[in-house]
Amino acid sequence: MEDFLELIKNDHRDFDHGKLDGFFGKEPFNLFNEWYKEAFDSKQLEPNAFVLSTIDSENRPSSRILYLKELSEGTFVFFTNYKSHKGIDLEVNKNASMLFFWPGKERQIRIEGTVEKVNSEVSDTYFSTRPRGSQVGAWASNQSEILETREELENRVEEFASKFPSSVPRPPHWGGYFLKPRLIEFWQGRPSRLHDRIVFEKENDGWKIYRKNP
Ligand SMILES: Cc1cc2nc3c(=O)[nH]c(=O)nc-3n(C[C@H](O)[C@H](O)[C@H](O)COP(=O)(O)O)c2cc1C
Repeated sequence: MEDFLELIKNDHRDFDHGKLDGFFGKEPFNLFNEWYKEAFDSKQLEPNAFVLSTIDSENRPSSRILYLKELSEGTFVFFTNYKSHKGIDLEVNKNASMLFFWPGKERQIRIEGTVEKVNSEVSDTYFSTRPRGSQVGAWASNQSEILETREELENRVEEFASKFPSSVPRPPHWGGYFLKPRLIEFWQGRPSRLHDRIVFEKENDGWKIYRKNP
C-alpha cells in the first residue's frame, strides 16, 4: 500500500498531447462539440460520462457520475430520477456544475450553470428508447432512498415487470434535466504544468473569453 502511494506521489508524467488556440470567435458550444467528437473518435472510455455536482439546502456539495445524453440548443441534457438526492438538491438550488475528463486527450471541461427539467415529451421520447430492463428499473428503484435488502429491489422489479407486460410508460418521477451554461472552461494539458485554460463566460447575449493561469 505504502509503495503504491509512493509511486503515485513520485509520478511526474508530463502533459503533451496538444494545445488550445484559435478559440477566439468560437462559440463554446461548438468547441465542446469538437472536443466531444474527438474524445469519442479517439475511443476514450465512457466519453459521455461527467461529474455532476449539486448543492443541498444546507449548502453542502455532492458529486456523482452521469451520462450526457443530448446536446440541445446550447444546453446539456441528462436523465435521472427527480426524487433522487441530486433531484432534491436541484429542487432547492438550480446551480450545478458538470465536469468532463478525457485522460487520453489530456483534456478537462468544466461547465457551470443552472438546471431545469426538460419538457415531458423530451423525457418520454428518450425513455421509450431505453432497454426494457432499464425502463422497469426506473419504476423499481427509489433512487437514493435506503434499501433494507437487495431482495426488496428485486421483488419490486418483478412486480413492475408483471404490471407492464408489454410497453413500459415513463414514471412521472423520472426524466431529463438541461443545464444552461453560464461558464465553460476548456483545459488542455501542456508540458511543465503550463496548461492552456480558456474560459467562456456568458456576458449579455455573447461570451466573454479569457485565458487563465494554469
Ligand atoms: C458511468 C456511470 C454512468 C452513470 N449514469 C447515470 C445516469 O445517466 N443517470 C443516473 O441517474 N445515474 C447514473 N449513474 C449513477 C450515479 O452516479 C448515481 O449513483 C445515481 O444517480 C444516484 O445519485 P444521487 O443519489 O446523488 O442522486 C451513473 C454512474 C456511472 C458510474
